[in-house]
Amino acid sequence: MIKSLKLKNFRNFENKEFLFVNEKNFIIWNNWVWKTNTLEAISLIFQKNFLNKDVINLVNKDANFAFIEIEKDDWKKFSISFDREKNAKKLFINWKATTGKKFIEILEKIIVFQPMDMNMMYLSPSLRRDFIDDILWSSFETYSKINKEYKNIVKNRNKILKNIKDWKASKNEINFWDEVFLKKAVEIYKYREILNSFLSEKISILKELLNFKIKNIEYKYITKIDINDIENSIKTYLTKNLDRDIIIWTTNIWPHIDDFDILLDWNSLINFASRWETKSVILWLKILETKFIEKITWKEIIFLVDDLFSELDEIHEKLLLNELWSKQIIITSIKANNSNNDNNIIYL
Ligand SMILES: Nc1ncnc2c1ncn2[C@@H]1O[C@H](COP(=O)(O)OP(=O)(O)O)[C@@H](O)[C@H]1O
Ligand SMILES: [Mg+2]
Repeated sequence: MIKSLKLKNFRNFENKEFLFVNEKNFIIWNNWVWKTNTLEAISLIFQKNFLNKDVINLVNKDANFAFIEIEKDDWKKFSISFDREKNAKKLFINWKATTGKKFIEILEKIIVFQPMDMNMMYLSPSLRRDFIDDILWSSFETYSKINKEYKNIVKNRNKILKNIKDWKASKNEINFWDEVFLKKAVEIYKYREILNSFLSEKISILKELLNFKIKNIEYKYITKIDINDIENSIKTYLTKNLDRDIIIWTTNIWPHIDDFDILLDWNSLINFASRWETKSVILWLKILETKFIEKITWKEIIFLVDDLFSELDEIHEKLLLNELWSKQIIITSIKANNSNNDNNIIYL
């Protein structure tokens, strides 16, 4: 658990300290100058840069150095200093220099729910694929290794396809790459399958988030592959499409062109849903991300919500606090929640 956060010259802060005395914390400020920056500072300590900004923009415009520090409930202090001129950062545990890897090893994981997440259902499928891959990366150490190997195999297979097209290789050279491709793809699907069944099993939470307004809800994993017979369907696909693959020298069947959708009374969320429904689904996905990573890794998770009321209403808020009752949650918002006296409310 995070006990406190200290900021010095971080973005528009000069000196600021937050005390998180409870598990559930609300940071309330009805203006547009501090909320996201506060959560960004926390996320940087956890080695996530959710706004993807350069060091240089993190330092207050009128200063050369910025400093973020959190103290954990075991009294350990994790700090980062930013140097504008050198465009560099330094990390410390109890003021002893260390590495980002060490931070990740020791610290909890964080999950951030922010307005930008809405893009996941509005923009390209690649955001949804990244979402799935990120969860699996965070959960299984081997997943990122398998993924890397897999990408290399695809690259090599495509190279051979090009060589065949250019008459520099014979057609049967592809057999070796088809075999290794198949093996890796099957491994990737095994992990995806674990997550897919988890998401399907927990659809009832989404029903609740949608206030029981929708009777039939389904999580749908979209793929060209027959999930019940992965090996054979990939094999058949590769053989059937070899000539086309050679012409365009790309491998057109792979876990990385898969996608997912949510069916609300048989209608596709991606194509039909209202903003409120989409918000509910994203929140559901984030809650399940938390539950899944925790289940697999046994790691503690801290949940950050940026700008609660621009994204969620009271039904969502109540369910979120309920579903993640055992987690530390830090929420920024434009108005206070008065439903629970145990919440720590910080007015900026
Ligand atoms: N390096 C910086 N120095 C000074 N101010 C900054 C810096 N970076 C961002 N800001 C200011 O931070 C403010 C945005 O704060 P933010 O936390 O995103 O607000 P909100 O409460 O709406 O989430 C803007 O006014 C911006 O000018
Ligand atoms: Mg904001």
